[in-house]
Amino acid sequence: MSDNSNVRPAWDDSLMMKAARCEPVSRTPVWLMRQAGRYMSEYREVRSQTTFLDLCKSPALCAEVMCTAVERLGVDAAIIFSDILPILQPMGLDLEYAQGEGPIIHNPIRTAEDLSRITELQDVSPMDYVFETVRLTRESIADDIPVIGFAGAPFTLASYAIEGGSSRSYMHAKSLMFGQPDAWRELMERLARSVARYLIAQIDAGAQLVQLFDSWIGCLGWDDYKQYALPYVQSIVQEINAARPNAPVIYFGTGNPALLPLFKQSGAQVVGIDWRIRLDDAWNTVGHDVAVQGNLDPVLLLSTPEMIRERVAEVLSQAAGRPGHIFNLGHGVLKETPVENAIALVEAVKELSAK
Ligand code: CP3
Repeated sequence: MSDNSNVRPAWDDSLMMKAARCEPVSRTPVWLMRQAGRYMSEYREVRSQTTFLDLCKSPALCAEVMCTAVERLGVDAAIIFSDILPILQPMGLDLEYAQGEGPIIHNPIRTAEDLSRITELQDVSPMDYVFETVRLTRESIADDIPVIGFAGAPFTLASYAIEGGSSRSYMHAKSLMFGQPDAWRELMERLARSVARYLIAQIDAGAQLVQLFDSWIGCLGWDDYKQYALPYVQSIVQEINAARPNAPVIYFGTGNPALLPLFKQSGAQVVGIDWRIRLDDAWNTVGHDVAVQGNLDPVLLLSTPEMIRERVAEVLSQAAGRPGHIFNLGHGVLKETPVENAIALVEAVKELSAK
């Protein structure tokens, strides 16, 4: 940062921040959800020396992994390297990333009585390693690249805490939600307050924007989303907007585009769009007064650079040069993705959107 406090830091006027504020840009900013990960040999090399959780708790390695990915891909934003689930550890859950199985929680919450085991994070210092990752990533990356902090949204975190792992039907999570609504409310409130503090601390450590991942929200229908999930997203967004008004919030809920009008009600400045709906239909639905982020099918990155370019052009034509589009995939990069194709996507966005 400059010594002169009158000078705006370069990231403030970056393509990504301008687009998040719905201001006009010289070309569409682009970054990819899960842009650092197993599809990259540099990541696999770092990861082969350590477990995933230990990696998340090594800020210097996290910053290195993300900066390498940002430079290799040429993207316009650096999301911190971390995960949505480690916050559950200091809240009382026993989290493990098992080889080949994904995350597991060994002591899931199943009943109202189990709730006594989950503590709200009043003090976020157990997550200091994440704030250090934000600080180091901010320090290591070019000034015109904003750093994105992130967290899981309450429904997605609650589903993990209750199911104990990924799930097809979300039977346990929904059973608690429908069957013990008071316990559900209490759990969601504890998560929402914890996540709000966690994201504000990431902003204070140097993040310019924050993204809330609601990866499993698509299993809910309209009325249940409105009653059991939306109020807690709204309270997080309100707290962040009140406390740190210059940091835009990106809300990404995937799986059910019918919920988009309710995603708009989250109050987030940017709404993430998955590939199940056309970008123009999605933007018309949420309204052009909010920014949108998306929405190429991640599986397209397994095709060819020509095909990718064609589909990038299609998404850009749907965005129609309107201010407030951030190019991204409709969900995270798959581990089978050839890195050259991810690079081809970034290059295509830069070339085809230049004004
Ligand atoms: O975008 C980035 O590159 C930053 C890092 C990042 C990770 N996870 C690293 C990670 C981000 C933003 C996340 C978010 C995340 N984590 C979400 C929301 C996004 C989404 O994909 O829906 C979710 C649901 C999780 C939970 C999670 N973490 C799962 C289900 C898994 C296992 C399956 C998988 O996709 O790998 C993880 C592990 C994980 N998180 C890895 C990475 C790089 C792989 C770990 C390894 O190296 O073995």
